[in-house]
Amino acid sequence: MDTEKIGEADWGELQRNLEATIPVYDRINRFATLGQVSKWRKYVQNRLPEEGRILEVGCGPGSFAEDVVGRELVCLDPIPEMLRVAEPRVNSQRAARGDSVVEFVEGTAENLPFEENSFDAVCSLFSFRDWFDKRAGLGEVLRVLKPGSSVVIVDPAKMNKLHGFFGWLWMRFWVGSYARIVCNINDHPWKWLTKTYVHFGTTKDYIRMLEEIGFVEVKGKVIFPGMATIWEGTKAESGRSS
Ligand SMILES: C[S@@+](CC[C@H](N)C(=O)[O-])C[C@H]1O[C@@H](n2cnc3c(N)ncnc32)[C@H](O)[C@@H]1O
Repeated sequence: MDTEKIGEADWGELQRNLEATIPVYDRINRFATLGQVSKWRKYVQNRLPEEGRILEVGCGPGSFAEDVVGRELVCLDPIPEMLRVAEPRVNSQRAARGDSVVEFVEGTAENLPFEENSFDAVCSLFSFRDWFDKRAGLGEVLRVLKPGSSVVIVDPAKMNKLHGFFGWLWMRFWVGSYARIVCNINDHPWKWLTKTYVHFGTTKDYIRMLEEIGFVEVKGKVIFPGMATIWEGTKAESGRSS
């Protein structure tokens, strides 16, 4: 594993562990972020256009998608069980609000099963860190976005090595202890949160990557109280580049 790639064997193991988090995912996520996660989700939602087709990459059990009001949404995840859990959860909430049905698609960021220029926005929450080839995945996101449209990504923050060390302590001891109690096993699946965080790059690493791939107006900002970063980048209108 490094800041760009996760090897095949590690990614397979990571996916098995992510699947095992499903029953306790939201509970532990809320505890791990001291409830801040819902603010970050709002933050992303406020950056999505009201009109047009939106893709969420790595939708997991539907924790973000269920709260997306209105909008035409497509949710993608490589784990069939995530999609199986997410679909009734998200679509029942949306039906109650009178929103359109979400399309759920199995696939990976690195090989998006969509035509080029087919989305008005792409978002990814707490999934980018798990992509096995982040550069390839962002290249695919750029391909499927319409010119002038943007990607919004949120993942745990790492400003530099020192901040990363405190992040590691937080995940290892605060999140790890709670996960051990909730899951009632020592070898709980949340250990992979710490493992992927150790190899995750800094805010600046992925600002650079987004720019190198061809996004323009790239921004990366650590959100208060320093636990998450939000990155944004836009696909240039044709004929325009950074
Ligand atoms: C922690 S969950 C995120 C759930 C949700 N987006 C949220 O807001 O809480 C991470 C998800 O990313 C997915 N994922 C992992 N690798 C991926 C890849 N290469 N492409 C797309 N999704 C991936 C996992 O299957 C998992 O469901």
